[in-house]
Amino acid sequence: MKKVAAIFVTLLLSLLLSWQAAWADAADAAKSPRFGSKDYIWGEMLPEQAEVMKLTGDPQRGKEAFRGCRGCHKADAAGKTDGTYPRLTGQHASVIIKQVTEVRAGVRINPKMDPFSSDHAVSPQEIADIAVFLAAAETTRESGKGEGDFVARGQELYEQGKCVKCHGANGEGNAVKVYPAIAAQHYGYLKREMDYIQRGVRGNSHPDMVNAIEYFTQRDIEAVADYLSRLPDHRQSLAERKGK
Ligand code: HEC
Ligand code: HEC
Repeated sequence: MKKVAAIFVTLLLSLLLSWQAAWADAADAAKSPRFGSKDYIWGEMLPEQAEVMKLTGDPQRGKEAFRGCRGCHKADAAGKTDGTYPRLTGQHASVIIKQVTEVRAGVRINPKMDPFSSDHAVSPQEIADIAVFLAAAETTRESGKGEGDFVARGQELYEQGKCVKCHGANGEGNAVKVYPAIAAQHYGYLKREMDYIQRGVRGNSHPDMVNAIEYFTQRDIEAVADYLSRLPDHRQSLAERKGK
């Protein structure tokens, strides 16, 4: 009986310690301004983001450095179909750099990825390398999709809202303005991000987008996510448009 009690106490203690660690992490991250705090200015580059943007990335080296990311984002960088891990192939290099450096600075909240993308795990040069590798990487796997019942409504909301202004008619985003491509992304991930953005818990969010998404109902979010997950890879649609 004593042994059982001892195991119980040990379990309880380790649970408390992990809670404490999580609190300490949260307190650390709180040092950088996030969306909603009075110091948050969207588009003001963090020193590390500016540093990485100046480096020249090498896709071959990036492919090697991406090994540390495969555990979650998978060997082909297509993420997980259920949306737990986003697809990274075809994302603009500038966006990859912004998102990774903001996770490192605690501006974007991503405790799962934090240890694997920290400065102990990858150098600024490796971030630059990974970014150019991912931007050009091909996806063969299909994206995870929704039920398909409200795709037309999703398109209407996306096009009537202010979304197209930034993310483009084909969900292609804007590399120069650092707006992410969101076409062909997994449904589950899109849905979760819109929910985070709406609730102000993603950490980094353009204030104009927060205003645009504010009035979305849960069903609106699902409809838009389903619509976007069914759009072709934005690079494919650009090539098609050029062919016309
Ligand atoms: C332990 C799992 C894990 C590992 C390892 C990991 N990530 Fe992630 N990553 C995630 C999760 C989870 C998200 C989505 C977070 C969210 O829901 O907002 C994410 C999001 C991202 C995003 C943002 C994508 C977007 O569309 O905004 C980028 C970029 C990224 N990861 C790059 C990397 C790179 C580069 C590495 C390796 C250095 C890496 N990740 C390793 C779990 C991981
Ligand atoms: C002013 C430009 C702007 C507008 C308008 C805008 N967005 Fe965004 N969106 C962004 C930026 C920038 C990010 C990346 C987050 C960041 O770094 O601030 C983003 C991120 C996202 C993401 C997460 C993508 C990822 O890879 O993690 C989704 C989903 C999204 N936007 C959907 C929408 C929808 C739907 C609308 C319309 C209701 C919209 N956005 C309006 C600029 C915009």
